[in-house]
Amino acid sequence: MASELVEEFHSLIPGTSDDPYATFKRLRDNAVFYSDVIDGWVVSRWSDVSRALQDTEYFTPMEAGSGSSGIYGRTILHMSGEEHRKKSAILARRLRSPKRLGGDIGELIRHIVKASGNALPRNPEPADVKELFTSVIPLEVIGELMTMREATAFPDWYHQIVAASVSNVTGDPAIHQRGVEAREDLFAWLEPEIIQKRECPTEDLFSDLCTIEYEQERLSNSEIKSFCAFLLSAGIETTDRALVNLYRELILWPEQWNKLQENHDLIPSAVAEILRFRPPVQGAVRKTRQKAELGEVQIPEGAKVMCLLGAANHDQSIFENADQFKVDRFSDNQRAQFTPAGDNRAFGGGSHYCTGSLVAKLEMEESLRYVLENFSEIEFSGPIPKEVGFYLRSSESLNLILHPKETNV
Ligand code: HEM
Repeated sequence: MASELVEEFHSLIPGTSDDPYATFKRLRDNAVFYSDVIDGWVVSRWSDVSRALQDTEYFTPMEAGSGSSGIYGRTILHMSGEEHRKKSAILARRLRSPKRLGGDIGELIRHIVKASGNALPRNPEPADVKELFTSVIPLEVIGELMTMREATAFPDWYHQIVAASVSNVTGDPAIHQRGVEAREDLFAWLEPEIIQKRECPTEDLFSDLCTIEYEQERLSNSEIKSFCAFLLSAGIETTDRALVNLYRELILWPEQWNKLQENHDLIPSAVAEILRFRPPVQGAVRKTRQKAELGEVQIPEGAKVMCLLGAANHDQSIFENADQFKVDRFSDNQRAQFTPAGDNRAFGGGSHYCTGSLVAKLEMEESLRYVLENFSEIEFSGPIPKEVGFYLRSSESLNLILHPKETNV
């Protein structure tokens, strides 16, 4: 690999590049390579990324405390084999249940979308869509699912924890310290809540974590805290960014907005497509269990491997016209894109595939349905907001002018 291309890749890490996808293309045209800044091997082709995520004989999660996910403590992302299978089933039982998604969780999401959508200012006033809509929906949904509404009054915890985990690729000590402090505040808040839920469990995910047994023992307080910290971050920031990306691109591609307005049946496909086109989570990290060959490159045992999900999602060998945003791309197979069977790598792949993908799908679909039904046009209030970030990527703000439909004025 030419050293200029490695340097070009390193220039993406501060997260200020306007177009990492041009660099991703050049990376895919070359091989897997070692980065001393990442301290690991960087993988960009769809086939190599998919294999690193799926082939558990050669690739395994990083240990807790290592890499950028150390801030949460040990959580589901660090587990493998039987332990991972059983503990992820605790989460999946609620988060992937068709009955609950079609029932109370669906109802809850529609209620939150409508309440926050109705509070958005209409034209001519500008609307801070991120502050009032895209960040509120996932925050309130997770708060309700975990019956932790009080904790969701402190979104700053999550922002600091997320900033200090996957986003802190270079290990900035000040960011890390702020994350540790936020984690300690959250953990202190959780301690009495765990005791209470163990004694009087209710019908929610948090109670499941407090009462479920694995190998005849309940999860420890510290494990529950790590799960909660991870879930709060994994479920909120990701979906918020995905929604910001969705509305930004729908303004930048007006013919796609029109297509959706003409046919609301394309909503599920459009949601799958934005996650492919602009995935909010751009990376997933693994470690080699033994010496492995990937993209004709030999990787030693015990080495870190960084999979570039955004690069895989723009691989021309899998996605025709990969750099085009096409809301009908997945109209024949949208459902698969929210399961490990789909080609879309926005939710990872293999056994650690995102447990919350179906909740995120519903949140995004209901949000988009609300916007299409209520507004004839959406436009930026001011200049186009810049997309930023390396590991988590979206615009940091989204101020829009929302034009209500005639019938809704
Ligand atoms: C658009 C929104 C979302 C995106 C793009 C996203 C992305 C991801 C990705 C890429 C992974 C795999 C990480 C890896 O393999 O290292 C993952 C894992 C996970 N996500 Fe999500 N996620 C989203 C929403 C959610 C929501 C709403 C929840 C919870 C309600 C959630 C819970 C989880 C959990 C528990 C895991 C760990 C799975 C495991 O290790 O078995 N995510 N997510």
